[in-house]
Amino acid sequence: MLTVSGLSKRFGGFTAVNNVSFKVERGEIVGLIGPNGSGKSTIFNMLSGTLVPSAGSITFDGLQIAGLAPHRIINRGVGRTFQIPRPFHRLSMFDNVVLAGFYGQGRHSRAKAEAAAERALSTVGLPTDRHMSVEGLGAAGLKKLELAKALATSPKLLLADESLGGLDESEMDQAADMLRKIRDELGVTIIWVEHIMGVLMRVVDRVMVLDHGEKISEGLPALVAADARVIEVYLGTDAASSQIAAAEARRRAEAKSHA
Ligand SMILES: Nc1ncnc2c1ncn2[C@@H]1O[C@H](COP(=O)(O)OP(=O)(O)OP(=O)(O)O)[C@@H](O)[C@H]1O
Ligand SMILES: [Mg+2]
Repeated sequence: MLTVSGLSKRFGGFTAVNNVSFKVERGEIVGLIGPNGSGKSTIFNMLSGTLVPSAGSITFDGLQIAGLAPHRIINRGVGRTFQIPRPFHRLSMFDNVVLAGFYGQGRHSRAKAEAAAERALSTVGLPTDRHMSVEGLGAAGLKKLELAKALATSPKLLLADESLGGLDESEMDQAADMLRKIRDELGVTIIWVEHIMGVLMRVVDRVMVLDHGEKISEGLPALVAADARVIEVYLGTDAASSQIAAAEARRRAEAKSHA
């Protein structure tokens, strides 16, 4: 579905993303992890058209999308959430999502945008009340709203820049389960950025690890977590290792209970 090749982004003399290549297959949930400032959001910004790459190519569904305007990329089926939610405060929660619903594949009527907004709000578990304000949504609610906006564009590929830092543990688990449900029930392919890896490792099929703008490891969660280079740059703390171990144990327990 997605082939990224030699992708780089320079800001003046600083290289934020350096020659990164990867592929994503239809139906996967791929985790993209890495320390603060390693280039995760910058990659999403290039995939979604918010930033023009300094070099490299991005092929989505057989078409070159690198450097296209964001609305054109959305129309081809790439949706995204933003790490820092910035809703329009003067619009109702519903209208925030309707506005997103005007984008996406071939959507030109208010009725279609509203229908998309209703579906998206229900999927993430937010009320579809027409007049409810965005004020009073906590960190978890704002994350859900971001997700609803992205889903209202009917993406084939969802770029989820989650960063669940502001959430408590059960809210993080809910967010992880939500992404899995979106993949399983709506058939949306997902790249999930997060730097708290315990929660991510539980639901992703595959992980890529960035450090200083370079891809340093890629593969099955358990293998990546055991990669010496990853441990050195990223997982080197006891807290991180125990998070991974706990996530792995839960993943196994879940697999057993499903079987
Ligand atoms: N518009 C910009 N201009 C200059 N530097 C930038 C810009 N955007 C990002 N950077 C720099 O590029 C590097 C990568 O930033 P990016 O936001 O992609 O990191 P990240 O992996 O998403 O980090 P976090 O986990 O904190 O969200 C950082 O050093 C950041 O300061
Ligand atoms: Mg980021």
